[in-house]
Amino acid sequence: MNNIKYKRIMLKLSGEALSGKNGYGIDFEVVKTISKEIKELVDIGVEIGAVVGGGNIWRGRNGEDMDRTTADYMGMLATCINALALQDSLEQLGVNTRVQTAIEMKEIAEPFIRRRAMRHLEKGRVVIFAAGTGNPYFSTDTTAALRAAEIEADVILLAKKVDGVYDKDPHKYSDAKKFEKLSYIDVLDRGLQVMDSTATSLCMDNNIPILVFGLDSPENIKKAVTGEKIGTIVSKE
Ligand code: GTP
Repeated sequence: MNNIKYKRIMLKLSGEALSGKNGYGIDFEVVKTISKEIKELVDIGVEIGAVVGGGNIWRGRNGEDMDRTTADYMGMLATCINALALQDSLEQLGVNTRVQTAIEMKEIAEPFIRRRAMRHLEKGRVVIFAAGTGNPYFSTDTTAALRAAEIEADVILLAKKVDGVYDKDPHKYSDAKKFEKLSYIDVLDRGLQVMDSTATSLCMDNNIPILVFGLDSPENIKKAVTGEKIGTIVSKE
């Protein structure tokens, strides 16, 4: 089978990635397609941690007049719903999974315990990290960066609706240029919309490469892991 470039990965899926064309809620066909890709990676021995966003259900910033922290907690709960949907879909395909939550809800899932997460990964289980970091004011991108550092992931695969990082919005400007690679500092200096600055800084400080690619073709997840040239890589150089 293909060469594995990254043995242990952190897959960050935005909430929207699960919503398909609707942009809202969960499209189970889409989740199934993503799950099949994940299964292929598990089958070739890739260890997978996953963080899902919650934007398909609730975004903290939608809370306009709400208390920010409450709105953020609602977002964390939304990620739990997505995590359970992904878990169910993966298990229907026979993939072993564990969901770990940053906020205890023991009846529903395991609490996040780093050492347990490591054991699950070693045993080939997909570990889905839910409820963000458990703190308001942090994004699920930051969760992905934090958990990636904790589980010693080789890379963060950032699956987006756009197929990489551009110098300007490719939907608005036809001459937008896609970057093949970027340094963390470039991303921060130019204010490029890769991850938010907290997440980018965490990756920079811990030297975790970020591969940004599009989920337009779910095959891309495998391409990313096997080192085929896709998307934009953000790293030290
Ligand atoms: P190993 O010890 O490596 O075999 O891992 P394991 O996860 O199978 O161990 P354990 O026997 O602790 O867990 C058995 C099942 O219970 C798994 O499906 C876990 O996800 C689940 N589980 C463990 N702890 C919790 C918890 O606190 N809450 C919930 N809801 N499920 C849990």
